[in-house]
Amino acid sequence: MKRVGMGFHKRTIKNVPLDNKTILVRVDYNVPLNKDGTIRNDLRIRASLPTIRYLLRHGCKVVLMSHLGRPDGKRDQKYTLEAVAEHLGSLLKKPVVFVDDCIGDKVKQAVKRAPKSSVVLLENVRFYPEEEKNSPAFAKKIADATGARYFVQDAFGAVHRAHASTDAIEQFVPGVAGLLVQREYNRITGAMERPKRPLVAVIGGAKVSDKVALIERFVEKADKILIGGAMANTFLSYKGYSMQKSLVEPDQKEVIDAIYAAARTKVGEGGDVDDFIILPTDLAVAVEPSDAAERKEVAIDAIPEGYAAFDIGARSIDRIVREVQGVGTVIWNGTLGFAEVHNFAHGSARLALALATQPDVVSIIGGGDTADFVLSWSGDEGKAFTHISTGGGASLELMAGEELPGIECLLDA
Ligand code: 3PG
Repeated sequence: MKRVGMGFHKRTIKNVPLDNKTILVRVDYNVPLNKDGTIRNDLRIRASLPTIRYLLRHGCKVVLMSHLGRPDGKRDQKYTLEAVAEHLGSLLKKPVVFVDDCIGDKVKQAVKRAPKSSVVLLENVRFYPEEEKNSPAFAKKIADATGARYFVQDAFGAVHRAHASTDAIEQFVPGVAGLLVQREYNRITGAMERPKRPLVAVIGGAKVSDKVALIERFVEKADKILIGGAMANTFLSYKGYSMQKSLVEPDQKEVIDAIYAAARTKVGEGGDVDDFIILPTDLAVAVEPSDAAERKEVAIDAIPEGYAAFDIGARSIDRIVREVQGVGTVIWNGTLGFAEVHNFAHGSARLALALATQPDVVSIIGGGDTADFVLSWSGDEGKAFTHISTGGGASLELMAGEELPGIECLLDA
């Protein structure tokens, strides 16, 4: 895909006359749920409030639509948005009408009955298989049922998907960006294109193969790249270390060859590529990733037989903390270990602390698991960080410089 340009290039809710109109807003309420169906973290719901409040202030009937989970194109009550409607109502301090469909007569009637400055939330769009097929006929049914005058894209977490509610819908209702999409775009592309330097990239997570484009882009843009998580295992294995039972992707040799070739060109003759792409020098290993397992810290060339790496070790943690001291910008994408287990969250927790205690460092946290971790670590909704993205795949693709269909379909600025 083509690289995105600089600055936000689409019209937003502030550039169109939407006063007192019916506005269809795509939000991303695909929130993590607990086993009992309650909401584990409401970052995405809270992040949608500025746009909703703006529209309410302008007298709009706000009709929200979203997906939740992957219900495979069928109604599945496990993935109903009903609980989200209730939670949203408590955040807005006003009732939110929930409609248990996203097309048809029920929707038409509910929107007709809704007074100005009110909110309606439609049921999960993925209860229809046409949604993920980006079906224009299905998008038209949504547009017709809601009678919306404008479509507002505010589902940053879903803008990398070309689905009926994020893309085809724009063929039937003129589309503009919401405040969250605009803010995410500006923060992320701003940090990638015009960072306060030095720019340090911290990349973790499980797989190199998921983040090839991101690593390549950081080789181009960053002043240093720190690698952690299971991804570091693949780099260490490439360098010839025996990783024993650790998760490794042996088929990434050519990809890593290309990454190092680009890195060598960047650091130039006399530059030290291992001081540009920094790998762990020690690891925390165990027989299994649990709190009950003994956490052993070993050098990268001394992983005992039968053990696997689940976190970076104390020396590597100290190095990462040193590397992010006093820099201009840190972009962090991917946890540094098996962070859902406390025993192997040491590296991620120390990095979170190092960033949270440096107010002058611009800290951008890529979404998904990293955002989940930072939010549960911080306890204050992540206020100490410059930006915690609500997007997982979307923030990854935007950081990698890819075009996002859910943004590209909107009206140009
Ligand atoms: C996400 O959680 O990354 C978005 O909501 C997209 O969900 P999906 O990966 O199921 O399309």
